[in-house]
Amino acid sequence: MAAIGNLVEALGNFPRDAGPLYQQLAAAITRAVERSDLLPGTRLPPERALALSLKLSRTTVVQAYARLREAGTIESRHGSGTWVRRAGKTAWPSPQEHEVSSAFRRNVVFRSLVERSGDAISFVSAQLPPLPEIDEAARAVARRGARSLGHNGGYFPMGLPALRQAVAAHFTRGGLATREEQVLITCGAQQAISLIAGLLVARGEAVVTEDPTYIGAIDVLVSAGARVLAVPGAAEGLDLDRLRALMALRPRLVYVVPTYHNPTGGLLPEPVRREIARLADELQVPVVEDNTLAELGLAGDAPPPIAALAKNAPILSIGSLDKLFWTGLRVGFIRGPEAWIVRLGRFKALSDLGGPLVSQAMATLLLEHVPAAIKTRRREVSAKLALLTKLIEKYLPAWTWKKPAGGLLLWARMPAGDAEELAQIAARHGVALVSGSANSPDHRFADHVRLPIVADAATMKEGIARLGRAAAEYQPRPRATGFDVIV
Ligand SMILES: Cc1ncc(COP(=O)(O)O)c(C=O)c1O
Repeated sequence: MAAIGNLVEALGNFPRDAGPLYQQLAAAITRAVERSDLLPGTRLPPERALALSLKLSRTTVVQAYARLREAGTIESRHGSGTWVRRAGKTAWPSPQEHEVSSAFRRNVVFRSLVERSGDAISFVSAQLPPLPEIDEAARAVARRGARSLGHNGGYFPMGLPALRQAVAAHFTRGGLATREEQVLITCGAQQAISLIAGLLVARGEAVVTEDPTYIGAIDVLVSAGARVLAVPGAAEGLDLDRLRALMALRPRLVYVVPTYHNPTGGLLPEPVRREIARLADELQVPVVEDNTLAELGLAGDAPPPIAALAKNAPILSIGSLDKLFWTGLRVGFIRGPEAWIVRLGRFKALSDLGGPLVSQAMATLLLEHVPAAIKTRRREVSAKLALLTKLIEKYLPAWTWKKPAGGLLLWARMPAGDAEELAQIAARHGVALVSGSANSPDHRFADHVRLPIVADAATMKEGIARLGRAAAEYQPRPRATGFDVIV
């Protein structure tokens, strides 16, 4: 049976095509059935309830259901309701795919990357255009030729040796002495999180995260079958007492984003870093620190990784060159105790036999340009942030936020209402939006919106103006307790 919330998530935001709304709703339900996001036999909510949740008229839903009945996608019986037809050709998902399907229902960001996302102005994925250093590195690698990369073939599951050395030197310069053997090169920081989950987390085991936290980490952990225990707060607001209590229960791992938190943009204070390092050491609970955004600070130098504060603690430090230089580079890394790096390397070998060497050779060169790239991105993101906040003050004057210390997101709070509902209306105004609740393992922060600070000025102006119109149209309904019942 589909709780209304689940069904709304499975449909995503629409419209994405021209044509009447009822057709688009019918198409969205059909797509959800074809992808096994709605399984045969799933009961659909009554028309009125779905209309309320999707901010549509009841007639639109009645017409959409009628169309789906004609097409044989759903069945209804008077008095028994409406359900997805059981005799369809839909293949039943594996248990793993079932978890992935639930993750993607919530994760609008990854979903927009996998599925066709239409031509709406997107405030979904936080990606900057490539820096010119990318093109220079590509040319330099081309000049040297492929033979300079691997004399014995091209499989390097642990990473190109020159890049492992360069990353180790990068950590050492940043205050954490590191040897080549302590570094595994990954396909972006995202794969780093997946490999760590594969090594450490079995179905049903507890893991601890901040709340809110990085969407992509929640989904990897949930898809691995983990029980995610969320500590309220992040960065400056982290509830340290709660974290201590949960670490004492010896979870399989603790995942934190200390240096420019995704999505809040905060910086984890020094005393809290020390305490996390101490607890990891004393309790031998693995801590995964995701420093993917550490090079995107808006002022001052980023602090060294937490691992620098407890040399022998089981701490894995994730980093990436993608956010700084270009997300298409797909080069990330994990730094940790050597034995763990070898174990993670086995998972990497099974999954892909090693990442592409051309990107890794480029990354080796790019590491020399990190200080200059930090300055360029700081100027770029500061200007974009100034514009974004000015536009919000103009078009969404009741929204509030705290200035981020770094990263690529503004974590804004609406005065009232539910950002998922606003996202439905915004989609009809041609803007795609991510609700705060997608960043929360416990689905909190429904009144928050996560706005990437990446669009060019013209797109940002038009996007926020549209969002202002959507917000003016949105009338939050009072939250009735128990509304989200199974129907
Ligand atoms: C905290 C965090 N970790 C990991 C990633 C994924 O990074 P990559 O592009 O290197 O896979 C992101 C991307 O936004 C991120 O913000």
